[in-house]
Amino acid sequence: MTGTSNSILVTGGAGFIGSNFIFRWIENVGSPIVNLDLLTYAGNPSNLVTIENDKRYQLVRGDICDAELVAHTLQEHRPRAIVHFAAESHVDRSIADPGAFIRTNVQGTFTLLEQAKQYWKSLGDSDKKAFRFLHVSTDEVYGTLGPDDPAFSETTAYAPNSPYAASKAASDHLARAYFHTYGMPVLTTNCSNNYGPFQFPEKLIPLMILNALEGKPLPVYGDGANVRDWLFVDDHCSAIRTVLERGRLGETYNIGGNSERKNLDVVSTICDLVDELQPNPAQGPRRRLIKFVTDRPGHDRRYAIDASKIDRELGWRPSVDFERGLRETVGWYLEHASWVENVRTGAYLVWIRQNYEERTAR
Ligand code: NAD
Ligand code: DAU
Repeated sequence: MTGTSNSILVTGGAGFIGSNFIFRWIENVGSPIVNLDLLTYAGNPSNLVTIENDKRYQLVRGDICDAELVAHTLQEHRPRAIVHFAAESHVDRSIADPGAFIRTNVQGTFTLLEQAKQYWKSLGDSDKKAFRFLHVSTDEVYGTLGPDDPAFSETTAYAPNSPYAASKAASDHLARAYFHTYGMPVLTTNCSNNYGPFQFPEKLIPLMILNALEGKPLPVYGDGANVRDWLFVDDHCSAIRTVLERGRLGETYNIGGNSERKNLDVVSTICDLVDELQPNPAQGPRRRLIKFVTDRPGHDRRYAIDASKIDRELGWRPSVDFERGLRETVGWYLEHASWVENVRTGAYLVWIRQNYEERTAR
């Protein structure tokens, strides 16, 4: 029997939230971090290029569905904790191709939990006690709210509506079962919509920023009155670090930004920010580019998070308000044109054609 090292293992660390998490981990904690990532279309090692030679960071390219590889990675690096981000994460893609979501989000989480369990069971008592498996999940597992419904709390019944949400709900249930059945030290977080640097431009905010910059149509689904609660990605990362350090085992913690906004308002604010930061008076205000298009099937109307538990128990609350975070995010995309160029590969262009070409104007 060998003990743990001081390192942690993250899965999906080359994606949007994972790469921000790794940066903030190196900055704030400074202990070694290993990133197991398959590098799908959403995983981009160039996100982490500024730390690729840092001795505290290591990338292992591989699939969380590959039990042998996961077992080998755990044996080699002997992490004291696992933070599980890896997932297929885009709702529209889950509507077009649900199978990939079942594979990674359900089968992959199962494989990771199973291998983590074997590893955890092999540890000595004190390392076993200190070990943590933090499962990163979403508010979408709770379904949709009406305009006056109370926000989702940790006791809201699960009612996932998209294949993505259903696959995440299944993974949450597996994580819960490994705590209750095997006593594995599992924690789960359910967070609202993140935004910030390095978000792949298939999601609302970066897509709209880039289209606005390029004078392309801004495709708003349905009537644009769907509501999301927005959280700046750094705040999500600090919440995860807090839960990892001090969360009660077996508990779930909702994380949110107290920033409910209608999609149309988010897109309009982006237009105004792009007008201000990259003026193009000859083309007129960017708001003129807004186009209402065919809705997303099964589109959840409203998400809202009651994050009082994590505040009460662990003293975490968001620190960046939406207007400031959005301004910073628009500025980041303006300053990182080469990152944008590199992620918009042929496969990305195929997806954009597939998702938007058949959406007619409403
Ligand atoms: P993302 O799509 O940007 O990144 C996903 C990462 O996982 C990529 O690096 C990808 O290469 C990797 N990956 C995918 N399949 C893999 C596999 N089989 N094996 C190993 N790696 C694999 O996702 P994100 O937006 O950063 O989300 C990260 C996590 O946070 C997900 O679990 C998601 O459900 C959850 N979450 C996201 C948000 C949000 O607003 N983005 C909000 C709440 C929760
Ligand atoms: O709530 C947390 C979830 O937030 C995460 O679990 C998901 O991984 C993440 O992708 C995000 O899901 P959403 O479906 O809410 O995010 P998305 O950016 O795809 O869409 C946000 C809202 O904007 C949603 O109501 C759909 C709408 N939309 C989206 C796109 C891409 C548009 O109106 N037009 C678009 O082109």
